[in-house]
Amino acid sequence: MPPEDLKRRAAAHALTYVTDGMRLGLGTGSTARHFVELLAEKVRDGLTILGVPTSQQTLEQAVSLGVPIATLDEAGELDLCVDGADEIGPGLALVKGGGGALLREKIVARAAREMVVIADASKKVDVLGRFPLPIEVVDFGVVSIERHVSEAVRAAGCEGPVTVRRDRDGHPFVTDQGHLILDAHLGRIPDPARLARALEEVPGVVEHGLFLGLARRAVLAGPDGVIVLEH
Ligand code: A5P
Repeated sequence: MPPEDLKRRAAAHALTYVTDGMRLGLGTGSTARHFVELLAEKVRDGLTILGVPTSQQTLEQAVSLGVPIATLDEAGELDLCVDGADEIGPGLALVKGGGGALLREKIVARAAREMVVIADASKKVDVLGRFPLPIEVVDFGVVSIERHVSEAVRAAGCEGPVTVRRDRDGHPFVTDQGHLILDAHLGRIPDPARLARALEEVPGVVEHGLFLGLARRAVLAGPDGVIVLEH
C-alpha cells in the first residue's frame, strides 16, 4: 500500500479519539495534513471542535478547509494533540521536527492532556537517531552554538556531524518563530534523555526534536492494518 494511504489510515484511526467540544492540537507534516483533511470533513458534518495549529502551514490548511482555529492562549488547556513523527522509539520517545515545526509542536503537545502520534509503521525504530535530530537555535552566534551543540552531542555518547538546515535556494531555513535549525546526523541515540539534557544546557538552543514522555499513544498503519501502541 502506498505510504500516503498508510498515513491516511493512521489519521483516520486517530479521528476516533475526537469527540464533540474538544480543543485539539493540530500537528504539522504530511501525516498531520491527512488528519486535518479528515477532521474538516467531520466539521462539515457538524462536529464542533477548536483547533490549535502547530505551524503556519497547518494554520493555512485549517483555515482553507473551514476548521475553526484559535491560538493556544485563546484555547487554554487542550484535550488532545494529534501529530506525526519522524521516528518513534521505545517508550514512545519521538524524534520530531523534520518539517521544522518542533518548537510549536512541543509547546502544543505539552499543553494537551494527551498526545497521539500518527504514522506509517516504518517510523517505528528500536533505536532513535537514523533520522537527523533537529535542534532549533537562535541565529545569533550560530557558528559558536553549532560547535557547542557538537560537544554536547559527543558528551552524551553520540557521534556525527551537525549541520545548519538550508532551504532549496541554499539559504538557512528559518522557522515560524524566526530561528534556525541544526540537524544532528547521529545514526544512533543510545540514551535520548541524556542527549536531551546535554542539548538543553547549550546557550542558544531554543528546543530540540526529542519528545520524551509526551506521547501516550502511537497509531501505526502498516500493510496488515493499524496497531496502537500505548505508554
Ligand atoms: C514537523 O516539524 C515534524 O515534526 C513532523 O511531525 C514530522 O516531520 C512528521 O512528518 P510526516 O508526517 O510528513 O512524516
